[in-house]
Amino acid sequence: MSDTTVKIRLMRMDDFDAVVGIDERVLKSSRTAYYELKFEKLFNSKEYLPTSLVAEQEDGTVVGFVMGELYMGEYGISQQGATLDTIGIDPDFQHQGIGEQLMKEFMDHLKTLDVKNINTLVDKNDSQLMRFFTASQFRPSQTVVNLERIL
Ligand SMILES: CC(C)(COP(=O)(O)OP(=O)(O)OC[C@H]1O[C@@H](n2cnc3c(N)ncnc32)[C@H](O)[C@@H]1OP(=O)(O)O)[C@@H](O)C(=O)NCCC(=O)NCCS
Repeated sequence: MSDTTVKIRLMRMDDFDAVVGIDERVLKSSRTAYYELKFEKLFNSKEYLPTSLVAEQEDGTVVGFVMGELYMGEYGISQQGATLDTIGIDPDFQHQGIGEQLMKEFMDHLKTLDVKNINTLVDKNDSQLMRFFTASQFRPSQTVVNLERIL
């Protein structure tokens, strides 16, 4: 299925620019401040186990990423499970199986850490993401409801 050969590896602090760049191309707006906070939390705190991954080409160019959180409190891995916060594939590399590959490695990695469930929030109206998560075996949670109040 894949036209582009990629290697999946753990995300590093120096992937910051690549991640922000992909996110900007996907969303057509910049979220640098959001990622500054996120990277600070994930890479400079010992309370989170590394779970985030990137897909890189042979020349080292990062073309996709998945960011997750796995909180490791003083009692070990959180019973709440892990979250998948953001997934993004460079628009020039979408529909080549890279998202699927990233998701598979993300799941395999979490399984080795004995994580039992993964939560994520998706905009119901985002049909591309809804299709992707459904194909990746995510289902509406039976235990958690996202409540909101409009002001
Ligand atoms: C959704 C997204 C992650 C998918 O990545 P991708 O590399 O294009 O996806 P893949 O090529 O692996 O999957 C392509 C297709 O296979 C399907 N698929 C994925 N995993 C599958 C699986 N395990 N089994 C069967 N089908 C699968 C997908 O539903 C998708 O179908 P589509 O072509 O009809 O959309 C990507 O398009 C993206 O980054 N979109 C923007 C996401 C976004 O807004 N993120 C927030 C900001 S970064």
